[in-house]
Amino acid sequence: MKRKGIILAGGTGSRLWPITIGVSKQLLPIYDKPMIYYPLSVLMLSGIREIAIITTPEDQPQFQKLMGCGRQWGLELTYIVQPEPKGLAQAYLLTREYLAGAPSAMVLGDNIFFGHGLPELLAAADSKSSGGTVFAHHVNDPERYGVIDFDTSGNVTEIVEKPKEAPSNYAVTGLYFLDGRAPEFATEVAPSARGEFEITDLLERYRVEESLSVVHLGRGFAWLDTGTPGSLLDAGNFVRTMTERQGLQVGSPDEIAFRLGWINEDRLHQQADAFKKSTYGQHLRSILD
Ligand code: TTP
Repeated sequence: MKRKGIILAGGTGSRLWPITIGVSKQLLPIYDKPMIYYPLSVLMLSGIREIAIITTPEDQPQFQKLMGCGRQWGLELTYIVQPEPKGLAQAYLLTREYLAGAPSAMVLGDNIFFGHGLPELLAAADSKSSGGTVFAHHVNDPERYGVIDFDTSGNVTEIVEKPKEAPSNYAVTGLYFLDGRAPEFATEVAPSARGEFEITDLLERYRVEESLSVVHLGRGFAWLDTGTPGSLLDAGNFVRTMTERQGLQVGSPDEIAFRLGWINEDRLHQQADAFKKSTYGQHLRSILD
């Protein structure tokens, strides 16, 4: 079965209050594009065209206004509501029917990935027919994330959520390729002490049966989380620097769809025309030229 995508774009965004009282975090700007364009681009680069977008009940109309059914990018987008933010693993309970046994790639709506060779890593994860793949990145402050513990031979011995004392500096990033059993395994996850269905508990299920691959994103990769005012600004500046120095877009669904042949030149023309007053639209025009 073909892999389906999930973007988890609900949550409370409380570290960004009062900004996110009136608007979803994942609709905030990262330089010239809405935040959700970046995780969406990652799924598209994985070759995934059927994608469910999970939002809060209040925010769903804005996401629909922004992206519609996805036809402009050759995608099929489905919108699913998360009534209350009860944790990342809940996404698999909410998408059980949608996935209908298909393998999935879930990305957090506030995570940005950038690096040379990313499409190849994504393709390798996609081609794995059973078990799961997660991506680890070296961070300074592992206590904020799900952290991977390794034995002396480099095998993963545990994945722990926000540990007081981190067993390593390797954090699990917000991108999870799991096989079709994920929704069934998610039903076995009990709420944690903080009342959330933890993704780390779900990943542990795969690790214990030795079917979880951990791919290291090395020094050449940027993994940005955008959940605080400082990191939001840093991410915007990072994208601005990359875009202006290289003259290349980071995280443009329009460009990716065109390069993958999911939309034709006419369609890209329409998008470039619609956005002609913005730098984003001007970039789309430059691809056509
Ligand atoms: P977090 O950053 O852990 O949580 P949050 O976005 O609610 O922000 P804060 O901690 O400031 O209150 O979430 C990571 C991503 O996952 C983010 O894109 C929101 C999304 N998310 C959901 O969609 N549903 C959930 O139940 C949770 C916990 C997160």
